Amino acid sequence: MLLVATTRRYLWLLPALLLLTAVSCDKKDPEPPVDPPVTPATPYNLTLPTQLPQGVVIPTNNPLTVEGVDLGRKLFYEVRLSRDNTMSCGSCHQQSKAFTDGRVRAIGVDGIAHQRNTMSLVNLLWEPKLNWDGSANSFETQARTPIENPIELHQSLADGVRKLQQTTLYPPLFASAFNSATITEENVLKALAQFERTLISSNTRYEKSLLPGGARLTADERAGRVLFFNHPGEGGNILARGGSCDHCHNGNNFLFTSTNFTAPGGLTQYFNNGLPVSTDLGRFNVTGVAADRGKFRVPTLRNIALTAPYMHDGRFQTLEEVVDHYNEHIDTNSADPILLLSNTPGGTKLDLTATEKRQLVAFLKTLTDSTFIQDARFSNPF
Ligand code: HEC
Ligand code: HEC
Repeated sequence: MLLVATTRRYLWLLPALLLLTAVSCDKKDPEPPVDPPVTPATPYNLTLPTQLPQGVVIPTNNPLTVEGVDLGRKLFYEVRLSRDNTMSCGSCHQQSKAFTDGRVRAIGVDGIAHQRNTMSLVNLLWEPKLNWDGSANSFETQARTPIENPIELHQSLADGVRKLQQTTLYPPLFASAFNSATITEENVLKALAQFERTLISSNTRYEKSLLPGGARLTADERAGRVLFFNHPGEGGNILARGGSCDHCHNGNNFLFTSTNFTAPGGLTQYFNNGLPVSTDLGRFNVTGVAADRGKFRVPTLRNIALTAPYMHDGRFQTLEEVVDHYNEHIDTNSADPILLLSNTPGGTKLDLTATEKRQLVAFLKTLTDSTFIQDARFSNPF
């Protein structure tokens, strides 16, 4: 009796209970927090200078966007990517020095010297292999090394991501660039890569001198240009004088590297330029092939007057020292055979005259693009 009465008293609850069960059965697992709706990122209009090779490859999973490039620029100058918040990519890659640091060898957050000289960042959109030894295949993978390397920024990328996530600045910027305010390591690397792809230089005096009505080179600069492009005895003319520089710093495509852009995927070549083989075995560290001992990627000569000291170990302070090296201090044991050509019949050295050496340096200085180092799009936004 009592039981029935009690059951009856609560009978009205039944439909409500059923409804609740139905509702809760319908419900899926809790959703992760939804990012605020964002408009898709704006495609970045990358205009390639007409004199530079046109067929560049941009990875389909990281197209350039206005928001991505802008974010990448901020990250490039972001000290939170370093262990003690003191350094960024921009500390070593300074715009005023065509993205080098003026040091013999790079120095990271702990004051320890890197084994190599900081490389210039310019027109790397055309370069399929990065670093002095070509050890990195893309900007996306390259950037992790300086961030995590104990002798560079010395902080795990995961820690960097955590620091960025805690700011008010970055989550919305990542949301606009990559549709997610949750910052990931992959998206940090992608944004940096997008910015680096925009570092294009095309406004050197040399380039302008080749345009109709463009700047005229001086007589010395023109003589230096001939020496740069010619080999001794060029074209069967035993009297023709030259430095053979163009053999490796291929100037015909205005990039002054040895990369062959018409080969599928691009083909990077490595040479020994007459420096004695030292403890840094260069390309050999990547391939393990004996013939690659002491070979390095041919660096661009664009903005070379701004990027002293020179070579992978920063051993030469001036362009005059570099030309002296090619002219009279080639290590014949290791050097590429082209460097053994001589302007003196039967000679064993390049044997340019003092005037010719000066002219060669004058030509190298026409490869400076002063607009590139002042371009506001590449400068520190903070
Ligand atoms: C401590 C100084 C230092 C810092 C900080 C630094 N770099 Fe570098 N960078 C170097 C050195 C040294 C090399 C040459 C490395 C090698 O050949 O092993 C280099 C090479 C590069 C290259 C290859 C260039 C080429 O022509 O192949 C790229 C790209 C680059 N750095 C981007 C970055 C980015 C992005 C950051 C920030 C995440 C960064 N760097 C931070 C010193 C630095
Ligand atoms: C056999 C190929 C070859 C030839 C020929 C050659 N170079 Fe080089 N050059 C290289 C390589 C490889 C490097 C980098 C070597 C290293 O760091 O160990 C280099 C580096 C340089 C650098 C320093 C670049 C930097 O960023 O530090 C300059 C300047 C230079 N070469 C100028 C010249 C001039 C001028 C000539 C002609 C007299 C010339 N080169 C001929 C292969 C060559």
